[in-house]
Amino acid sequence: MLNNKGFNLWADNYDQTVQVREENNQYPFAGYKKILNTIYNEVMLKNHSDVLDIGFGTGVLTSKLYENGHQMDGIDFSSKMISIAKIKMPDANLIEWDISNGLPLEIKRNKYDSIISTYALHHLEDKEKILFINNLLSLLKKNGKLFIGDVSFQTREELEICRLDNIDYWDDDEFYFVYSEISASLQNKCHFYPMSHCGGVFIIENS
Ligand SMILES: C[S@@+](CC[C@H](N)C(=O)[O-])C[C@H]1O[C@@H](n2cnc3c(N)ncnc32)[C@H](O)[C@@H]1O
Repeated sequence: MLNNKGFNLWADNYDQTVQVREENNQYPFAGYKKILNTIYNEVMLKNHSDVLDIGFGTGVLTSKLYENGHQMDGIDFSSKMISIAKIKMPDANLIEWDISNGLPLEIKRNKYDSIISTYALHHLEDKEKILFINNLLSLLKKNGKLFIGDVSFQTREELEICRLDNIDYWDDDEFYFVYSEISASLQNKCHFYPMSHCGGVFIIENS
């Protein structure tokens, strides 16, 4: 699994890697644009809202929301990713932090209309994911929503098909979302919208 130094090294080429694999409909980024656009359109239903982005990377989605007047807070553990994103969003509150240690205090004090995370939470094991997601849900305002876009599958069988089709490229150190396995742990408050053969969007409401 990549640590923060690995992401620092990847940062300059990250957008290009994503683009090539997205355009060729390849794991892990098949459906990337559709996933980000879906989340963008959902967040944009509100004007000037408070948004937290977990693992914002080069800020592809975060900066579009920032440009449209949303107040953006973000967490990422790669200083290089942060410096690239900071150029696009000088006034955003971007915090260097490793989410395997939970959430930073300054974020825990806040409440958000939307919390978004794309292609970052698969770095947490399933148990950690559920704990972390529940912590995120406690930061939502009434009627707030959590949007997760990531490598994800309806069932373990679908994941296995994708793994065998991409055996040379598959990353065994990542923990992809399997909807049928995690939905019960989230009290079934979670809806899954597949966007490609290996990616989709989870929408989890704070009810
Ligand atoms: C694959 S990139 C996704 C970037 C962006 N959200 C996107 O959709 O293009 C994953 C991002 O999550 C960050 N990340 C991974 N593990 C993390 C952790 N444990 N704590 C904080 N950030 C993490 C990486 O530094 C990287 O910027």
